[in-house]
Amino acid sequence: MSIKPPIILAVDTPDLDIARQWIETTSDFICAYKVGLEFFTTFGPEGVKKLQDASDVDLFLDLKLHDIPNTVAGAARGVAELAPRFLTVHASGGHAMISAAVEQAPQVEITAVTILTSLSALDLQEIGFAQNPLDSAVKLALLSQGAGARAIVCSPHEIFAIRESVGPDLTIIAPGVRPIGEGGLDDQTRTMSPRAAILAGATYLVIGRPITRHWVDGAEAMRNRAAAIVEGLG
Ligand code: C5P
Repeated sequence: MSIKPPIILAVDTPDLDIARQWIETTSDFICAYKVGLEFFTTFGPEGVKKLQDASDVDLFLDLKLHDIPNTVAGAARGVAELAPRFLTVHASGGHAMISAAVEQAPQVEITAVTILTSLSALDLQEIGFAQNPLDSAVKLALLSQGAGARAIVCSPHEIFAIRESVGPDLTIIAPGVRPIGEGGLDDQTRTMSPRAAILAGATYLVIGRPITRHWVDGAEAMRNRAAAIVEGLG
């Protein structure tokens, strides 16, 4: 595998053809592209294969699996034939569930999502979490590591504490980053610049709209934006 910039492109579009073009356009600047539940429930494994045919960039399959271990094992087995590099599960599914995914898809980097950044401290309390979002995320990262997950997803502001706790080997993937000078934050609230997130200890960054919104100005504009973000990583 060639060394690629540590950027995972969030391919958040309901248009399969546009998704292919985004990946082709940015493939020099990304190490993987992320497709999520909306894409998967709309286009299925066949849609994913069409994207894979368009590029040799790795696949981050963001299905956020969360069910009893036996069901997650079956789902992980089911998508293993797509050979994603990363497959997400919810860390709060627990040790046995994460291990089940790891066992069924040994070639895949099972990636545990800690606390969704959409959840506030109050939301967590309502669900029954005893700790604040940061402490809960650290705890879930440690649990996931112990269960065999090879990567975790967390908010940029949790990277440092999680890196301190899990050590250097676990892959940390952070969405919600915004390049300095980026106009709006979209629906992201507590953001961090890509460079700051890497310095805090992230291994990879998930970036979507800061790159993909430039598609309206053409492929070259989008490519240039991706290049500038990579350059800004220093
Ligand atoms: O466009 P933007 O850069 O905000 O995209 C970020 C991507 O990361 C989206 O696909 C979003 O669903 C995902 N994500 C996130 N926050 C999380 C987990 C995933 O923004 N906590």
